[in-house]
Amino acid sequence: MKFLYEEDIINRIGEKRFKHTLRVVDTAKELAQIYGADLEKTKIAAYYHDCAKIKDYDKLIEECRKYDLKLTKEMKAAPQIIHSYLGAIIAEKKYGVKDKEILNAIRYHTTGRESMTLLEKIVFLADYIEPMRNFNGVERARELAKVNLDNAVYFSLNNTLSHLCKSNDYIVLDTVKARNFILEMEDGKIF
Ligand SMILES: [Fe+2]
Ligand SMILES: [Fe+2]
Repeated sequence: MKFLYEEDIINRIGEKRFKHTLRVVDTAKELAQIYGADLEKTKIAAYYHDCAKIKDYDKLIEECRKYDLKLTKEMKAAPQIIHSYLGAIIAEKKYGVKDKEILNAIRYHTTGRESMTLLEKIVFLADYIEPMRNFNGVERARELAKVNLDNAVYFSLNNTLSHLCKSNDYIVLDTVKARNFILEMEDGKIF
């Protein structure tokens, strides 16, 4: 795959984050093959998912201003979600991505949301389990990802939520809704 705007993205997010991006592309491709998602769309969504992951908070906010992204109460309380929203805007305005499904997969890759599409689930999960991720539960998430996408997403959301609880961090409503939606869909018989 030829990578577009590589230099521009590296300038914004750094070499290390860009390498993570490439691992997410590979992981997402594997998941797309297992679950029958559109391979091209998957690659594009994964490639741009962290295109706005700017390390420096002031620079991130400056970029939000430049692209007219108004910070919500939740974004202020959980700044780690900002780059997803900004990333969707930059992918569209600067990199010319027009496909709404791809843009939503970028926009919701950190929080998840109710009623996620196949593409959204794949990008969310690929980001969570790419090979260099190393945290409690990642092995279980990887195992589940091979056999049941919804279970894997559910497990990852739960793991994230309990981590946020334990560290007294703000919980974004979309993440709770994403989790409950899968639980309802599976009629409580998730595991
Ligand atoms: Fe991200
Ligand atoms: Fe990421």
